[in-house]
Amino acid sequence: MDVAKIKEDFPIFKKRKIIYLDNAASTQKPIQVINEIVDFYENHYSNIHRGLHILSQEASEIYEESKKIVANFINAYSWREIIYVRNTTEAINLIANTLPLNKGDKVVTTIMEHHSNFLPWLRLKKLKKIQLEIVDINEEQELDMNDLEKKAKDAKVIAVTFVSNVLGNINDLKEIRRIADENASILIVDGAQGVPHLLTNVKRMKVDFLAFSAHKMLGPSGIGILYGKEELLEELDVFLVGGGMIKDVRMDEFVPAELPWKFEAGTPFIEGAVGLKAAIEYLTTVGMENIEKHERELIKLLVDGLEEQNIEYYGSRKIKKRSSLVSFNIKGIHAHDVAEYLNYKHIAVRSGLHCAHPLHRRLNIPASVRASVYLYNNEEDIIALLDALKRLIKELNI
Ligand SMILES: Cc1ncc(COP(=O)(O)O)c(C=O)c1O
Repeated sequence: MDVAKIKEDFPIFKKRKIIYLDNAASTQKPIQVINEIVDFYENHYSNIHRGLHILSQEASEIYEESKKIVANFINAYSWREIIYVRNTTEAINLIANTLPLNKGDKVVTTIMEHHSNFLPWLRLKKLKKIQLEIVDINEEQELDMNDLEKKAKDAKVIAVTFVSNVLGNINDLKEIRRIADENASILIVDGAQGVPHLLTNVKRMKVDFLAFSAHKMLGPSGIGILYGKEELLEELDVFLVGGGMIKDVRMDEFVPAELPWKFEAGTPFIEGAVGLKAAIEYLTTVGMENIEKHERELIKLLVDGLEEQNIEYYGSRKIKKRSSLVSFNIKGIHAHDVAEYLNYKHIAVRSGLHCAHPLHRRLNIPASVRASVYLYNNEEDIIALLDALKRLIKELNI
């Protein structure tokens, strides 16, 4: 993988002096994605599925082609299983709001979830009186599989993250699927931090629903993906209603359209779909296995460097179980102050609670600093971060 050549594709790195290690929040965009969106605006733009004119036909074809590329990327059975929403958050809200869950039904989630895969279930607990079980982490700061096995008994739904956005752990989806099968539970996976970095195969993983966001994988912000098994999506009630999602409407009833349109009310983010298509083509050309390997090398360099400086970091100690991010704290300095100092050194990281309040409480920390890499980061970026941290500790004499 030629990282220097890849970096050349990202205009922002030619224009701004920055070491960008905030990829878990959102990634930068290559020229190929930018150009494809510009080309769409300049040459093909129109609304989809509405007109018989040439531009509407072209826009509709491009939009559907984008879904085919996404379906292929995650090895879905059909592009009809790909629903475009705004982001991961909306995708999970869509499922939580349309699954036929009733009072007493058990939903299992985990303490390491991003609020996007936590609040929709917490809200159902209040609204529908579902039984919500929250799986803990163990001493290794990995998902406690014994706790999961216990709590998953007779669960209707298991909703779990692919990769924790704070711990950086990759969860064992194979084992989670086995537990889900034992209990005939629906398995919902928050793929926001997993799909952009790890080869994802929904057929092999046997997930029932998978949610992820384009903006975390070189694509535009404002378009997210909900994958769902066709037979399950068919059963779900509609979420948003209005134009574009119906087959027929009468004075007193309506008939929803076929999949995937049944879940896409109103004009979608068409140019977002164009950008997402280009982003996936870019990632596929580089190769997801290459990206994963490259990122793991960078993460190894980072955790080794943190250990050397005695900086506390979170998540699994097994490098194979880690993906593209590391959260840490320097004793005696608030995470925001660390991030502020790094910003002064032109290094972009994230600090705070990362939309994971329950996990930070569980770890008994007020906040953390998160460094997250992507395919355009290199060893020099990690060394610069480690050097800056060393300097900060020295300057503050702590
Ligand atoms: C694990 C995880 N889930 C969900 C989300 C929410 O993604 P979005 O803001 O695109 O909805 C994030 C974003 O940081 C995340 O890291």
